[in-house]
Amino acid sequence: MELSGRIVVAELGAQYPEFRDRSVLVTGGGSGIGAAIVEGFARQGAKVSFIDIAEAESHALVDRISRDSLHPVRFHHADLRDVAAIRRTVEAIVAHSGPIGVLVNNAARDDRHDLDDVTPDYWDNNQATNLRHVFFTSQAVAPSMRAAGGGAIINMSSIAFMLNMPDFPAYSTAKAGVIGLTKSLAGKLGADNIRVNCILPGMIATDRQMKLWLTEEGIASTVARQCIKKLLHADVIVGPCLFLASDGASAVTAQSLIVDGGIF
Ligand SMILES: NC(=O)c1ccc[n+]([C@@H]2O[C@H](COP(=O)([O-])OP(=O)(O)OC[C@H]3O[C@@H](n4cnc5c(N)ncnc54)[C@H](O)[C@@H]3O)[C@@H](O)[C@H]2O)c1
Repeated sequence: MELSGRIVVAELGAQYPEFRDRSVLVTGGGSGIGAAIVEGFARQGAKVSFIDIAEAESHALVDRISRDSLHPVRFHHADLRDVAAIRRTVEAIVAHSGPIGVLVNNAARDDRHDLDDVTPDYWDNNQATNLRHVFFTSQAVAPSMRAAGGGAIINMSSIAFMLNMPDFPAYSTAKAGVIGLTKSLAGKLGADNIRVNCILPGMIATDRQMKLWLTEEGIASTVARQCIKKLLHADVIVGPCLFLASDGASAVTAQSLIVDGGIF
């Protein structure tokens, strides 16, 4: 069983010519699933920008990918809890790369918290990290998408909120909220030919998960519950994300796609 948190985006995945030169924004693109998605779109010839707070990982990713990409990948340092910073950054991306055709709202932090320790400030900060920016980044991106004739927004939820997991009620609430937000935004933006969908990953062995939460025992018991008996890495989210963003999914909106190896 592969236990490292490596990212390998398949060399020979599906090709989508429509992504060539398209402006794509990924939040939390500096590491983990977001980094794999950044790489996936860059390999399609898209103009990829990403927002993150992790300086070292983000610069390393830009260096690694840009050498082989049609367009250099652009890293924007911004804290997504700061709505003014989101608005400034989206404005800069549109000015540089043109209207954003694809937005992937990926950033989050699955911090654990004990029920008794959660204060109102902790709760608000957690929702700002995991839910609020999904709305405000979509709001900031929508006008240029609308003006360009349409686009696709993909939001990252999680199967975690359906598993009765006791250690992160605030995170679970946010991830359930992402699904409600997805459906409401799809209803609002559909008339502008903007599709909004959601992906619910299962257990994905990113560097952060490997460092903080995943044990050999925990991995074995989750893999045993999956239909597909292998440890999932970030690359498994890339294909579904590209598909949902592609023209082939032109009538797919307001949907939630579970990518968990078959737990649900
Ligand atoms: N890894 C999993 O097992 C798993 C499972 C289900 C859902 N998900 C979801 O997938 C998405 C990606 O998860 P991941 O495991 O790759 O996480 P990760 O921690 O590896 O990456 C998240 C990225 O978001 C960035 N980020 C966090 N807070 C930010 C902020 N305030 N401003 C700017 N950037 C910020 C981090 O720096 C990091 O680069 C998340 O939405 C997560 O909830 C992951």
